Formats: sequence, C-alpha cells, structure tokens
Amino acid sequence: MSDQAADLVAELEHLRADAEQRIRAAADGDALQRLRTEYLGRKAGRVTGILKSLPTLEPEARRAVGQAANGAKGAIEQLLAEAEALVAGAPAPAADLTMPSRQAWRGAIHPVRVVVDEICGIFRELGFTRAVGPEAETERNNFTALNFPPEHPALDQHDTFYLGPGTLLRTHTSPVQIRTMEAYRPPIRVTIPGLCYRRDPFDASHAPVFTQIEGLAVDEGITFVDLKAAITFFTRRFFDPRVKVRFRPSFFPFTEPSAEVDVECQICHGSGCPVCKGSGWVEIMGAGMVDPAVFEAVGVDSERYTGWAFGMGIERTAMSRYGINDIRMLFDADMRFHAQFVGNA
Ligand code: PHE
Repeated sequence: MSDQAADLVAELEHLRADAEQRIRAAADGDALQRLRTEYLGRKAGRVTGILKSLPTLEPEARRAVGQAANGAKGAIEQLLAEAEALVAGAPAPAADLTMPSRQAWRGAIHPVRVVVDEICGIFRELGFTRAVGPEAETERNNFTALNFPPEHPALDQHDTFYLGPGTLLRTHTSPVQIRTMEAYRPPIRVTIPGLCYRRDPFDASHAPVFTQIEGLAVDEGITFVDLKAAITFFTRRFFDPRVKVRFRPSFFPFTEPSAEVDVECQICHGSGCPVCKGSGWVEIMGAGMVDPAVFEAVGVDSERYTGWAFGMGIERTAMSRYGINDIRMLFDADMRFHAQFVGNA
C-alpha cells in the first residue's frame, strides 16, 4: 500500500474513533445533527471528502481506502442512529449505572425492646399472654382502684405528671391490672409492657419516662409459692441457671404481703462492686399477692380467687445486660450508639 493510502486509512480510523466519542457525549438532537453534517455531510463531510477523492487514487490504494471509508461511514451512521433514537425516546439523562450505591442503614432493634420481648417470651412459656393499656390514665385506675390512700405521697404533684383533674400520665403499669381484671374473668395470666412517667430528673441513672413490665396471675388456689416459683424460673432463664434470688419484705398499697426481689449482682457475682454499691445484690422488681381491696374494686370475688403481681423496670436490666452506663443513651437518637445493636435480633 502506498504511503498516501496508509495515511488515509489511519485518518479514517482516527475520524471514526473521534466521532464515536463525540456522539456519545452529545447532549441532544441538535448536537447529533451537527456531527452528522461534520462527518457525513454531502458537501463538506470529512468522511465524504475522502470518499470523493477515491477516483484520484491508484486502483490498489482505491480498494483499501474505499473499504476503510465505507466502514467508517457505516459505523458512524450506526452510532448516530442509535444516539438519535435514545435522545428521542429518553428526555431525561440516563442513570449512571457505574456510580457506587449509597450504604444502606439496616436498622437495629432498640435494646429495651429486645429485653421486653425476651422477658415476655419467658413468661409466655408459663402461659402468660401480653396485654397493653394507655399511657394517659385516670387517677382512679392509676391510684384509687389500686388501694392507694388519698394522702399517699405518690399522688403528690412532685411525682406525677397530671394532665388535668383526674387524669395523668401513668406512673407504673399497674393500672393495666385494673383494666385487665375489668375486661376478663379469671383465670388471668398476663405480662404488660409499657412506658411510665414520673417527675424525676434526667441524669445518668434516672429518666422521667421509663419502661416497666407488669405481671399478673389470678386464679383459684394461687399462693406466694406460685409467685416465688414463677419469678425464680424467670431469673434463671433470663440471667443464669445458677443465679441467686432473694425476696425482701416490702410494702405496696395493692399487694399484701409485698416483696422486693433482688438477684445476685451479675457484674461481681456477689462480692461487691460499684454497680451493686458493694452489697452484692441488685433489685429487679417489686412483687406481692394481690390485695383483696383491689379485687373488690374490680368486682373479682376475693373469697374465691387469689393472685400475685410484679412490676419490673426494664432500662436498668437492659443496661446491665449490655454494659450501658448512662440511661440517657437509651433515649438519645445517637446512631453511633444504635448502630452497635444492628443484627441483635
Ligand atoms: N407498681 C410498682 C412500682 O411501680 C411495682 C409493683 C407491681 C409492685 C406489682 C408489686 C406488684 O413500683
């Protein structure tokens, strides 16, 4: 092939590559039209010009250059046709499929919710179903029907958020005992998880809103032995099969007798540490036998039926389970905290 023919073939190759790049980058139909004229225009097209010059070449060179010129013309035609179809059918720019995707946030189950579900699940094995009640309650359900005397300090403005005369934010889940016993006849076995409110300061170990789980069992022939057995079963399942549990005498207006339940400190195993303030024990709940006065308030025959109840705070339990040292972390929406619980369910 002559030098001239080789130069023309190289130029055609360069024109084709150049045209391809510019066609792909063209923004709209007008730009494509200009490129069509520039490369394939009948009068001054760059490929057309070479085709027109073919008769001036030697027969051998004419064949080689003719083939390259027709190849380039066909390829550019094809690219233009494709690009024109795309521009006509897709007004918006196509998505860039090579762009890296955004990191997806999978979400995490809140540690308090994990503990609530686990505790209700353990009592479910003993035949307990779940019940719920409203956070805005009547003074009657929260206090009076639970046998609180009118002068009880918990009724004081300093402990209770009143919403209006006779209505308040419940200070414990015990009013749902009242609602449950008024809605269903015994036998009753329920766990009642929910939020409660007290006028406490927000600091590392207190919150004005917190989660409780209430337990209530009412049937014929229920005794304190049933209470101890159910709670011991629970602590062994939740903490450790060998955990030590103790019941201390206590007082609640709605149970008689009443107890506070302690478990052996899970941090120091009884030897004394800052978490248990050196005592070796951590209080987990209040409990007791349902006071006959409560049965009378809801119309359950206290001669025929007996029952037990407990109320347990969940934030502290979740904190000791996960080694959280500030209760406020459970309420802040700090993703650095919550991301640590992804996949915990
Ligand atoms: N309601 C009590 C409290 O909030 C706990 C409790 C519930 C005690 C049921 C005895 C029986 O402190």
